[in-house]
Amino acid sequence: EHGLHLPQYSWPHDGLFDAYDHASIRRGHQVYQQVCAACHSLNQICYRNLVDVAYTEQEVKTMAEEIEITDGPDDTGEMFERPGKLSDRLPSPYANEEGARYANNGAYPPDLSLITKARHDGINYVFALLLGYRDAPAGIEIRDGLYYNPYFPGGAIAMPKMLVDGGVEYDDGTIATETQMAKDVTTFLAWAAEPEHDDRKLMGAKWMFAMALLTVTAVYQKRYIWSQLK
Ligand code: HEM
Repeated sequence: EHGLHLPQYSWPHDGLFDAYDHASIRRGHQVYQQVCAACHSLNQICYRNLVDVAYTEQEVKTMAEEIEITDGPDDTGEMFERPGKLSDRLPSPYANEEGARYANNGAYPPDLSLITKARHDGINYVFALLLGYRDAPAGIEIRDGLYYNPYFPGGAIAMPKMLVDGGVEYDDGTIATETQMAKDVTTFLAWAAEPEHDDRKLMGAKWMFAMALLTVTAVYQKRYIWSQLK
């Protein structure tokens, strides 16, 4: 069963030559970290991915060092704790799916790495879903532990409404309204699903420029060569 039809928005990175809004990725990471990361993982992203995309290398190093990673075994066969580093993945809130379900009334908060790709029209979906909480219409009963959200297939989701005005603190001073946070975290998740996106488009643009140059040169040479022949 499908959810409600999704409102369509034009995202800054939609166009053939358009890059992500990196200030929005940065704010979106702050929403992710301060809100979503309590229940969701983002397995495909390691700290290094954030460097030069959303933060400076020093900022990311500092951020990584704030978490503890269990590593090992060392020479003596022991596991040990160490501060995070750039090559570590962002931390997961639960050890495994069982723990995740246990903490969430049996529901499973999915890994968000590919969510904008895994769902139909995923970017507009995530945005609409986060802002889609409302009272259930008369006559619709929602079970305990579920919340009415017409954008979720079936209309009842185990995730409570997460975004409220002022819910996060942005380090760039942007006012954290509910819609601002929804837009930023959606942009962040869209980027996380294709962290190489901007490089790819830049390469594409360079490639097209190079091919155009080659074409012009080739046409010119062909004409030059043929101009000598009677
Ligand atoms: C599901 C995003 C915070 C618990 C989901 C889904 C998305 C999402 C996109 C998937 C819907 C689908 O399967 O199509 C987010 C974002 C968050 C956030 C962007 C931060 C702004 C949280 C938090 C919790 C949570 C803090 C726990 C308190 C869940 C659960 C589900 C879920 C349990 C599964 C729902 C179900 O299957 O009924 N979330 N989430 N989420 N989320 Fe979150």
